This record gives sequence, structure tokens and C-alpha cells, in this order.
Amino acid sequence: RLHEGLILLSQTISLETSDRLGSGVAELSAFRADDRPGWTREVFSEPYRASRDWTAARMREAGLEVHVDAAGNIVGRLAGRVPSAPALVTGSHTDTVDGGGRFDGIVGVLGSIEAARLLQDSGRQLERDLLVVDFLGEESNVFGLSCLGSRSAAQEMTREDLERRDYRGVSLGQAYTDFGLDPSRLSDVPWAKDPLHAFVELHIEQGPTLEKRGLPLGIVTAITGIERFIATFAGSAGHAGTTSMEDRRDAMVAAAEAVLAVRAEGCGAPTHGVATSTRVESESRSPNVVPSLVRMYSEVRSVDSSWLSGVKGRLTADIAAKAADLGVDVGFEWSTDNTVVQADRGVQDVAGAAADALGLPWMPIPSGATHDAVHMASLAPMGMIFIPSKNGKSHCPEEFSSTDDIAVGVHALVATLRHLDGA
Ligand code: GLV
Ligand code: MN
Ligand code: MN
Ligand code: MN
Repeated sequence: RLHEGLILLSQTISLETSDRLGSGVAELSAFRADDRPGWTREVFSEPYRASRDWTAARMREAGLEVHVDAAGNIVGRLAGRVPSAPALVTGSHTDTVDGGGRFDGIVGVLGSIEAARLLQDSGRQLERDLLVVDFLGEESNVFGLSCLGSRSAAQEMTREDLERRDYRGVSLGQAYTDFGLDPSRLSDVPWAKDPLHAFVELHIEQGPTLEKRGLPLGIVTAITGIERFIATFAGSAGHAGTTSMEDRRDAMVAAAEAVLAVRAEGCGAPTHGVATSTRVESESRSPNVVPSLVRMYSEVRSVDSSWLSGVKGRLTADIAAKAADLGVDVGFEWSTDNTVVQADRGVQDVAGAAADALGLPWMPIPSGATHDAVHMASLAPMGMIFIPSKNGKSHCPEEFSSTDDIAVGVHALVATLRHLDGA
């Protein structure tokens, strides 16, 4: 069945589609910070700014009418037959993490642009408008906030969010201003205030499951919730040569215990659950002073919200108890990046039927990564289509999906949009 479906599809995938997807990935990846590893194009950076003209131009070449909305999203519109019908929306992001790859988000943007082309080439106009969106800054950034553009479109960006500061003390609001966007107008996004028919995001899996099972497609069931915290450990400074081991109140050791406690929660998760500490900073710069102030950054993820809230309580108590044993005080700043979001049942069914009609096997799959789809889910019935990631690698330079795999995803997206248009 897989074989038949893929052979059928390989006859459908034109050389032009493969060329456009391949050259798109290559050209977009050239916009990168050359002093950073991998393909780094972080939100608000110069390479990101420069890449956006390229993306808008690609949309125009594909016949889309393009504008940048007040939230900084690049929006390309393909007009449907019935202007008053609620629009279909698809898209993803073109920013990357520091040291990231060439496919996360990018596949969904280039893939939607290609889908819009294929829909036009078919000569059968959609009933509804199709909006192709490159959402501003999806990756969690120096401000610790993900999905800036979709969050704003969904009216979920708060004043406190805009007051978040990076390590230099610059606020998120200031970063918007410096980028040429007005932080007081971010939720002024007319297309997102109109009723929308559905949102579908094509994305790489970023995990190993599809490749391991030899499946070309995954249809997302739910998207992980993310709880983050910064723990600040306050001990007591002292001479590293003369303070006895038992007299120390070492903030670094308390942080080290906390790193292990975070890992233990992830290892003990019943179903899908992961826990990561990404950064530990000490105020002590001298090699001969017992550390007195240490900050640690961690996150916990799961599609099981009750496990997630349980972990929050357990970690807070466990880390505080271990620190107390060491004579160290600890304070926590917890923040929810996003809660668990279920994909719409109807959109999942339509995407499954579309894949079936193309003869493409698929599996239902939860997403351990977050996506713009989380925020779009509050505006429209939401679904996501995953394609395989080589060795399950993502957020690193080795991230890879073949042009053929991407093209298969594009055809699944086109079929899903067609089915949704009539549904
Ligand atoms: C973004 O890709 C995330 O899941 O953190
Ligand atoms: Mn992504
Ligand atoms: Mn990502
Ligand atoms: Mn993501």
C-alpha cells in the first residue's frame, strides 16, 4: 500500500515542485548569522530581517497578494470564488533557534507557498480565500517567549509579555520597536478577527517515529504543553580554600541537585513527558569563591496536563527541600509557554481522508514541540501534518527532510485544503 501510494504520488510530483522546494530551502538557508553554528536566523536579527523580503517575494512569484500585518506576520492571499466565505489558513515560521537547522518551520512556509501554486495550476479555484502565513518569531527566544506572531494574532500577547527582558535588559516591546513594528498595535490583525474556516500547518516531525515506522505522514492529535521556570539559588559566598565542606552554603551544588531532580521527573513520566534544564548561570566569576548566587533555566513538557501540573508542584517542593538541606534559599518564577492543545477532530479526519485518497499511509501522532498551531487553535479548527525527520534530529544543524518527503507533505496539504474547502 505504501509502495503503491508513493509510486502514484511520485508520478504526481512534478520536477518543478521538487526544484522549487529544493531551491527554496537552499536560498532561505543562506540568510544566516555567519558567526553562529548551523543555520541561525533568530527573530529580530539582521539575517531574519533580510530573509523576510525573500519570503515575501517568493509568495508574490507564486501569485499571492502579500502584506505584513501589524503583528509582523507575512500574509499571502490567494482569492477564492466566494469573498464572504471564511478563509482557510496555512503556514508556519522561518525563524530558527540558535544553532538550528534548515527545515523546522521552513517546510511549512515553503510548502504552503507551493501548495498555493499547485492549487492555481490545477485550474480549479477554491471557494474560500487561502491565507499563507509566515508567522513572526515562532521559536522561543532570548525573551523566553515563543510564537510571537500567532500569539499576537490570537490576542494572547499580554502587556507583561512585552515587558520581558533579555540578558542585556532590552524589553520585548523595545525589540519590536527596533524591528519597525508598533508594540501597542500587535493585536490589530484584521484577517485574524474575521471568522476562519480552518488552520492547517505542515511541519517536520522533529522526532524519530515516522522514519522508524516507514510512514510518510503523521496527523497530529495534540500539541504539548510547556511549563518553564527560572530558579534562583541564594547561598553564601566564602573562600573556596578555607571554608570547610560542612560550613558551605553552595548555590551551585543546590542548582546541580535541581538539574538532576528535573531530569528524574522526565525519566519518571508515565506517557509522554520530558524535562530539560538548559542553562545554569553563576554570579561568581572567580575560581576560588564558593558560589552564592546561581540561576537555572528549565522546562517541562507533556501532552498530559494533569501530569504537567503535578510535576510543577513536585519540582517546586523537591528542589526547595534539597536546597534547604544545603542551607540555600531558592525562589521560583514559573511561566506557562502554552497549555496542552488538542487538534480539532474534524480537521484530523479530513487530513486522514485526504491522505487515504492519495494512497498515503499515516499515523496519529502527538507533538512534543510547540507550534503556531497552538495559538491558531483559538481562532479556527486546527490540524497539523507531519513529515519524517532524518534520525529524528531537530533544533540542530543535522536536521534534515528530503525534498521528496517535503513534496509528499505538500500534496497531502493540498488535498487537505481542497477537502476542507468543500467541508
Ligand atoms: C519550538 O520549536 C519548541 O517546541 O520549543
Ligand atoms: Mn517549528
Ligand atoms: Mn523549532
Ligand atoms: Mn516549534
